[in-house]
Amino acid sequence: MNENFVCVSDFEEEARKVLPKSVYDYYHSGPEEQRTLADNIAAFNRYLLIHIQMTEIRRIFQKHKIRVNFKPGQTLRQRLVHPMDKTTRHKLTCQAVGIGMMLSSWATSTIEEVMSAMTAKSGTGGVLWLQLYIYKNRELILSLVQRAEEAGYKVIFVTVDMLYLGRRWDNMRDQFKLPPHLSMSNFSTASLAFSEENYGNNSGLAVYVAKAIDPTLCWDDITWLKNHTHLPLIVKGILNGEDAVQAVNYDVDGVVVSNHGARQLDGVPAMVCVCICVFLLICLFEMYQYRYRCPPSISYELTTAVAKLSSPAPWSRPSQGSLGV
Ligand code: GLV
Repeated sequence: MNENFVCVSDFEEEARKVLPKSVYDYYHSGPEEQRTLADNIAAFNRYLLIHIQMTEIRRIFQKHKIRVNFKPGQTLRQRLVHPMDKTTRHKLTCQAVGIGMMLSSWATSTIEEVMSAMTAKSGTGGVLWLQLYIYKNRELILSLVQRAEEAGYKVIFVTVDMLYLGRRWDNMRDQFKLPPHLSMSNFSTASLAFSEENYGNNSGLAVYVAKAIDPTLCWDDITWLKNHTHLPLIVKGILNGEDAVQAVNYDVDGVVVSNHGARQLDGVPAMVCVCICVFLLICLFEMYQYRYRCPPSISYELTTAVAKLSSPAPWSRPSQGSLGV
């Protein structure tokens, strides 16, 4: 590692110098005015400061055996930025430290290739999970699920916040597409593998998503998917407590609170704020059950309480003692 690189922004600056502009823009930019992107970073910094106040949260996590999972992001098209397949690098790191890696279904290595890389060399462990989008063509989804099951993947994550691609102005200006030596290699046709020659005067990925992904996704599709796999199903892209509760009602095995790295809808809240909000809703739910021996209906009062408690400025929030429902 270059010893002059001392923080994330040093790496960002280096990436800006060495990567082709359209590739750098693809990873670096969010949609439209990038307000959520800026807020993601600001909120992350802001909430680092309340670490001490998190002890109560930790206690509740432990009491209810809530596990926190860390994973590297399923950044798609790994080989765009690494001469060596970054999927393999992620895999080696995950294997070494025994954590899960979520492979994007849009990866530039196949489901099977990544699994055989994972199992080729022994390490501490590490598991593979598959991330999916809901395509208009349902058979296509089932074939990915089946391949993941057969290859030994352990969890399916389904992304629910990409009915359309966020309007990333830089990618539109660059007419972003993959270089000719890469494709989304889980798919066999050029149109599904995002390797057509011409996507017109737009972000190629936006054109791809508009053509292939189902914009009418609803909760019944989650039930449908759950009925077609024996793997745990996790919904990725939840941004409010009510949706988290709805996900539980639809019997999913977990949710990923995410605003897609601030790459989808500009103006949605920062991810860290939402995480705290969803977490508090869970705590309130648990406390209600403990006190009244029945689950609450998620009421206006409850969501208002959650919203209040997770207001952005940490110094203006009520003390821990006022959490009562
Ligand atoms: C894909 O998930 C992207 O954010 O480009």
